[in-house]
Amino acid sequence: MAKVGILGSGDVGKTLAKGFLKHGYQVAIGSDHPEKLTEFKGENPQIETATFEQAAQSGDIVVLSVKGTVAEKIIEKVKQYLSGKTVIDTTNPIADVPPQNGVLKFFTNLDGSLMERLQKVAPDAQFVKAFNSVGSVLMINPDFRNNAKPTMFICGNNDDAKKKVYEILERFGFETEDMGKAESARAIEPLCMLWCIPGFLRNEWSHAFKLLKK
Ligand SMILES: NC(=O)c1ccc[n+]([C@@H]2O[C@H](COP(=O)([O-])OP(=O)(O)OC[C@H]3O[C@@H](n4cnc5c(N)ncnc54)[C@H](OP(=O)(O)O)[C@@H]3O)[C@@H](O)[C@H]2O)c1
Repeated sequence: MAKVGILGSGDVGKTLAKGFLKHGYQVAIGSDHPEKLTEFKGENPQIETATFEQAAQSGDIVVLSVKGTVAEKIIEKVKQYLSGKTVIDTTNPIADVPPQNGVLKFFTNLDGSLMERLQKVAPDAQFVKAFNSVGSVLMINPDFRNNAKPTMFICGNNDDAKKKVYEILERFGFETEDMGKAESARAIEPLCMLWCIPGFLRNEWSHAFKLLKK
């Protein structure tokens, strides 16, 4: 199995680290504040803890799960290790201001996504947007009524990288909808705003998107 290097010590990084481990991958999780991962390491001794650079270097596949406002800075720092690698981009461009009537504010607009910016910072990395439109507690084999499988919308410029992400999503219990090239992140990133509205308005956080087809 491939080795996965996770950049991010928040809920998404920790959840995906445990998910990849459960599915047989070797996992390293990176942070610039390793003390944040002490308890996690105690509970998950098989997961290696590392710096962002070490996690990026060690992964055959890299997962980016840092705060959106610092994503470009962190990719700049580790880009030398990302050449030719699939980078699963879970980030959302959420601005540092409160939501308005439950609607998050973004620091991007509809003519340019965060993932396109990241792809520019590290042109040799193969970014694939995924996992950004569902809460972290529903990322690994979520259990919905009637065994319904939620849809994960993905996009990216490299077809081999998207195939790898498709296989991961299948293991993690999702149907995958490939929405095309990196520009499609302009449409996929705002799904996070839609997903969060019931949470902010009514404290409902246990839903996921599904694309119905005839
Ligand atoms: N939470 C969810 O359910 C969810 C669902 C889908 C997508 N997302 C997206 O996934 C990403 C990760 O979300 P999260 O909730 O797991 O965690 P988060 O709190 O958004 O991000 C945590 C990570 O960001 C890094 N970070 C934060 N501020 C920083 C700064 N000023 N300089 C350098 N690094 C900084 C932290 O670094 P250190 O480790 O060094 O502290 C940590 O690794 C976000 O972009 C979020 O929008 C979240």
